[in-house]
Amino acid sequence: MTETLTIRRPDDWHLHLRDGAMLHGVLPESARHFARAIIMPNLVPPVVTGAEAAAYRERILAALPADMAFTPLMTLYLTEETDPDDVARAHADGIVTAVKLYPAGATTNSASGVRDFDKVRGVLERMAEIGLPLCVHGEVTDPEVDIFDREAVFIDRVFDPIRRATPGLRVVMEHITTAQGVDYVRSADSDLGATITTHHLIINRNDILVGGIKPHYYCLPVAKREEHRLALRQAATSGDVRFFLGTDSAPHVDALKEHACGCAGCFTATNTMSILAEVFEQDGALDRLEGFTALHGPAFYGLPPNEARVTLTKGPPLTYPEKIETGAGPVTVFDPMMPLHWRVD
Ligand code: DOR
Ligand code: ZN
Repeated sequence: MTETLTIRRPDDWHLHLRDGAMLHGVLPESARHFARAIIMPNLVPPVVTGAEAAAYRERILAALPADMAFTPLMTLYLTEETDPDDVARAHADGIVTAVKLYPAGATTNSASGVRDFDKVRGVLERMAEIGLPLCVHGEVTDPEVDIFDREAVFIDRVFDPIRRATPGLRVVMEHITTAQGVDYVRSADSDLGATITTHHLIINRNDILVGGIKPHYYCLPVAKREEHRLALRQAATSGDVRFFLGTDSAPHVDALKEHACGCAGCFTATNTMSILAEVFEQDGALDRLEGFTALHGPAFYGLPPNEARVTLTKGPPLTYPEKIETGAGPVTVFDPMMPLHWRVD
């Protein structure tokens, strides 16, 4: 008997598409399975204004193959100079779906991010008023704080104070990697949600470091101990509506991953849905895959779920490319270290 699972077409609530040749190379990998995605604004230079977001959306749509349907949901990169009026206008005009906060220096292309959180207070208050969500990269950048503790310290030092100071602000804690992140989201009200990546459900820090350094498993926030991976898996497969998929699929060409100072990012767009089906099946939660990938995200963002359906079919182990070739160079596809049996049609 063939096992199949039909679910609403999923969305990706955290995606890096880049620009130019890389955008052309990676966009079909996401558009094949996902109806919509929240597009990260950390280009060089970053997408800061409504006009820049509108122009970037046009470049994404121009790069989309004619036979594919995909809606990019744009974000603005929050800086200390961001103008609340520009943000409100971009929201009213339907150009942006969220604003992204990067603490300055936390990750790839975050140099223009926020150092002094008091300087963005006006923007955050306006966002709370107009109902525009804030997506947060939750890591402190204090050099004194160990990289494996940076998320947990951020929650106490920065995140909780910002949320308390801005009641009504809808916030997504992006790509949570710790049990502390899971607990914090569970303890909060419905104005807080969290995305979980595919790769953080698979790898722990041993996978990056034991038996030789594995640059394709290096991302930020970096994967933590096994107990944290298990907490994330429990949260993702629990059916709790506050947790939803944001792949953080983040392409870098191999030459820059396999490097003395390798870039952070796992490229999972190609096999994400097959990996997630495997994870949810292993955890006895296949009936909750649709919630995590296609229902909880739209509910948080106040958008309707997709009407289209996709069918996943279980069969012999899938083959998928080890790398995708882009005009910018080859990009290695995330290796989940297990056979994948669920094909997406
Ligand atoms: O691993 C990551 N890669 N984490 C981020 O926060 C940024 C992303 C990127 O842009 O490459
Ligand atoms: Zn990201």
